[in-house]
Amino acid sequence: MNASVSLSHHTLDIEQPSLQPTDELLAAAKQHILFTANRPDIVMARGEGMMIYDTEGKGYLDFIGGWAVNSLGHSPAVLQEALARQASQLVHASPGFYNEPQVKFAELLCQVSGMDKVFFASTGAEANESAVKLARKHGALHLDGACEIITLTNSFHGRTLAMMSATGKPQWGPLFAPKVDGFIHVPINDLDACFAAVTNRTCAIMVELVQGEGGVHALSEAYLYGLRKICDMYGILLIFDEVQTGLGRTGKLFAYEHYGIQPDILTLGKGIGAGFPLSAMLTKARFDLFQPGDQGGTYTGQPLGMAAGLAVLQELLERDLAASADKHGHELISRLEELTATYPITDVRGKGLLIAFDVPEGMAPKLASACMERGLLINATRASTIRLMPALIVQTQHIEAMVSILRLAFDHLLSSHDG
Ligand SMILES: Cc1ncc(COP(=O)(O)O)c(C=O)c1O
Repeated sequence: MNASVSLSHHTLDIEQPSLQPTDELLAAAKQHILFTANRPDIVMARGEGMMIYDTEGKGYLDFIGGWAVNSLGHSPAVLQEALARQASQLVHASPGFYNEPQVKFAELLCQVSGMDKVFFASTGAEANESAVKLARKHGALHLDGACEIITLTNSFHGRTLAMMSATGKPQWGPLFAPKVDGFIHVPINDLDACFAAVTNRTCAIMVELVQGEGGVHALSEAYLYGLRKICDMYGILLIFDEVQTGLGRTGKLFAYEHYGIQPDILTLGKGIGAGFPLSAMLTKARFDLFQPGDQGGTYTGQPLGMAAGLAVLQELLERDLAASADKHGHELISRLEELTATYPITDVRGKGLLIAFDVPEGMAPKLASACMERGLLINATRASTIRLMPALIVQTQHIEAMVSILRLAFDHLLSSHDG
């Protein structure tokens, strides 16, 4: 099969391998792919805009957005073009050299974030590891060896061993012992608890401004203001993990703009590459503290990823997709609130296009699969919580279609007493 991808400068004829039957692919997947998650018996094949299609040709309206990653929708033309152009120039140099897209991307990212310096990586967990290392370096140099980081219960910071230790998921407590030491967990929006946890061993406080995996819970303004004050008082660093909330997702380019409070360290991931694995840790010039050997990575600042990130950020800015996320987020929330009159939906919440609502305990996974059967992807982040994080390109007609399918799924569950 030939797919013709039209680019502004030239047309690429991509020879696509003919697809193997789905049942063969599934059998091979079950035989060879290490089990880490329960996955449905479908195989994804291609995507376009708000839609993703499986190998049977069935289309799904995607309100999971690649797990808050596909900020520009599926296979956006700007990403295709940037990757094709950069791949023809230079795919990879070495982390030992600068490259042009890296410099341009760093410049633009610093300009829009108000930060001064950036370290690039590939995943959110790595960006957060970099943040923790930089905070510990600050502790070693300026806080008499302080190395503890305060994080929040119910938070999520990634799946490396250190980030599993930083994450405040109670069910992860006993996993993969021994844990990485030096992470203290305190409850969200409880300033007294945080204040009480600060000691002369503390070098940083790390928070998500809206807890994403934890079910879409925002920090209060008073709490964040208090955290900034604590950090300033003791010279400890305030780290914002904006891996999920960053780059337009919450209706502002950065979620901290909602609060008017700046971090000392900012981490980004997911939407920054719009599907290309890319992340970043940004900081102020005064925390440019690493020495050779402290931090690095084979793929840091790799040209292909840098070209992708630059193109994605330029597109987000040019189309003002943060404002669009704000507008359509409000629309989505009010459509969901209307449904509360008819269906067992409670506590519709969120900012921009990071939205959640609750359903009776145990209903969320059933609702997600009933929606999937009907061609809609939504995420059951817990047994009683549905999370929505569509691409920032979502339009009113997608929201209308989403609500219609959600209604059908609820009608089915409630009539079959399966809910
Ligand atoms: C807030 C936050 N931080 C970090 C991560 C980890 O990112 P990654 O899976 O790219 O390592 C996630 C992923 O969901 C996240 O939501």
